[in-house]
Amino acid sequence: MYNLLKGKRGIIFGALDENSIAWKTAERVHEEGGTFVLTNAPIAMRMGQINELAEKTGSEIIPADATSMEDLENLVSKATEILGGKLDFVLHSIGMSVNVRKGRHYTENNYDFSAKGWDVSALSFHKVMQTLYKQDAMNEWGSIVALTYMAAQRTFPDYNDMADNKAYLESIARSFGYFFGKEKKVRVNTISQSPTPTTAGQGVKGFSGFISYAEKMSPLGNASAQDCADYTVSLFSDLTKKVTMQNLFHDGGFSNTGVSNEVIERFED
Ligand code: NAI
Repeated sequence: MYNLLKGKRGIIFGALDENSIAWKTAERVHEEGGTFVLTNAPIAMRMGQINELAEKTGSEIIPADATSMEDLENLVSKATEILGGKLDFVLHSIGMSVNVRKGRHYTENNYDFSAKGWDVSALSFHKVMQTLYKQDAMNEWGSIVALTYMAAQRTFPDYNDMADNKAYLESIARSFGYFFGKEKKVRVNTISQSPTPTTAGQGVKGFSGFISYAEKMSPLGNASAQDCADYTVSLFSDLTKKVTMQNLFHDGGFSNTGVSNEVIERFED
């Protein structure tokens, strides 16, 4: 451990259970000396094991539906109060598609479902940042990270409307990143993570084929949730102060690989 986040305060969204990327990140941030408030949708609190994580990391939990401005305003003002000052880091680790959940094919999407999934998975990132911005809740050289997937750039047929939500999310990082950088010296980035066996990940149809294929395609193998936590810590630290408005691929090299020998071998006669 390097004490990379000593004295830094933040908010971590999206720890549902021990497989969650946000859960691993909370553990790593704690190890690096950061303090934080944990938050999740009220419904997820009942399903998840967030209390265990809070105890382990000495954190308080404030429930918030990330689509509700009222909940977000309450969260940000309470978090700065509890932590004793402005924030240095925020992790947005939230995703949900109603079309995926209900098994609606992309060509048969229900638009009420699409709108809900977009609000939760994409617009919520704008809502979180607008709340932080208006309350002037971020310290200078703070860092905001959201998680995304490469289906925003390339087609993965079973990723459904989450692909569109991720494209929108990545665009928000650039657009808000400009204003947050100019006005408050805060950086905003998205991490484009390998397929990862979590509740959200496993909701994608054909996930086991998908994750094994990515593993075989990536020269370094898939990045795990633990690897993602390490990378996020680096983005929260003072070692990456001038990295902003980027979509950062964290995928073992998958995104720049045309084909691997392992994959070719499977197709040879
Ligand atoms: P997860 O299922 O553990 O986390 C998703 C979280 O979103 C849950 O904690 C859930 O309660 C929360 N959430 C849903 N609706 C919410 C709302 N209205 N308000 C607040 N929180 C809400 O799964 P995972 O994989 O850790 O997901 C985290 C992020 O990583 C998501 O953005 C996901 O799309 C992204 N990601 C995941 C990959 C994977 O293969 N698992 C790959 C690339 C990105």
